[in-house]
Amino acid sequence: MNIKFNNVSKAFNNQLAIDSLNLEIENGEFIALLGPSGCGKSTTLMMLAGLYKPTAGEIYFGSVVVNDLEPKERNIGMVFQSYALYPHLTVLENIAFPLKQQKVPKKERLRRAEEVAELVHLQEFLQRWPSQLSGGQQQRVAIARALVKKPDLLLLDEPMSNLDTRLKNNMRNEVCRLQKQLKITTVLVTHDQEEAMIMADRVAILDAGKIQQFDPPEKLFNKPKNLFVAHFMGNPPMNFLEGRLVNEGNQQVVVADDWRYAFTKEKALPEKYTGKQVKLGIRAHQLAITQESKDALPAKLLALEYLGREVIIRAAIGKQNVCVFVENMVANNLPEHFYLYPDRAGVHVFDEETGENLSL
Ligand SMILES: Nc1ncnc2c1ncn2[C@@H]1O[C@H](COP(=O)(O)OP(=O)(O)O)[C@@H](O)[C@H]1O
Ligand SMILES: [Mg+2]
Repeated sequence: MNIKFNNVSKAFNNQLAIDSLNLEIENGEFIALLGPSGCGKSTTLMMLAGLYKPTAGEIYFGSVVVNDLEPKERNIGMVFQSYALYPHLTVLENIAFPLKQQKVPKKERLRRAEEVAELVHLQEFLQRWPSQLSGGQQQRVAIARALVKKPDLLLLDEPMSNLDTRLKNNMRNEVCRLQKQLKITTVLVTHDQEEAMIMADRVAILDAGKIQQFDPPEKLFNKPKNLFVAHFMGNPPMNFLEGRLVNEGNQQVVVADDWRYAFTKEKALPEKYTGKQVKLGIRAHQLAITQESKDALPAKLLALEYLGREVIIRAAIGKQNVCVFVENMVANNLPEHFYLYPDRAGVHVFDEETGENLSL
């Protein structure tokens, strides 16, 4: 089922939690809502579930406006961070519970519950109590319970955040596999960019109730629309260098106290930015260490962080700090002062005031 938010807003006590949301999710697509705590992710999900009603705008399931439909009138499955299993019901009964609510005959609902249990590899645990399961197994029960109704839409609100790293990775793979196998339209809420990038076909980045960008992971990383997205996506975050745009002959140059960066012609910015402050953005893997000063930025070593094969170098360019990824060997022999040569294709320029990426 395809989903559409048309200018949807949600206010609590006259405070906008969601501000004019426009979003279209294709049938069978897996999307993630990603953003910092309080940005409105859960509120958006609750509106899809029918637990919150939009203050303005329309939500479409297919061609039907669902604003006034009760949760039980929407064919959705939901999994929360807290699994909320019924402790006095067995695994099988927990999974079958939504069908009981729908008054599906007992034989039929147990058959369907067993079928879904198999999908999430729980067939050996059907007669156990939830308290006799590990966290990961309990999470599987919650997922099976969400799938048993064959929902048109699967909603996941931070479902993996209580699991340890290994289990989390397993569960991510498994949920992706199920989603592809069942071709079920899925919305995942997470504050974990890695999780969103790994799992979702497209990621909607939210900040303060507004969509900042809705794109496939690779595009969010390589073509961030604004400063917020550029800073939010990627670990370490994109490096930013602030300077003033000036004309030198027919060349545009960004200058600061201790460094300068000359654009090649095709990167030229509109004339109205001349004399203004702009921010250059460049990722840690797009700065190369060199001893040559030509076209490079002078840097001073601050610290090294060993990650294994790679090392993060923290360095100062003038008054601004940057991170650089280098190979182990390079880091070991680094002098205190060196130069950083930016990969020109990787340099973004942002409008200081609006945050807009001017280099797209
Ligand atoms: N039931 C509610 N009553 C009042 N304010 C709420 C309610 N639910 C959410 N909010 C507010 O809406 C904003 C977005 O919250 P939420 O959607 O839970 O954020 P997220 O899930 O991204 O952390 C926050 O400012 C939060 O305080
Ligand atoms: Mg939340």
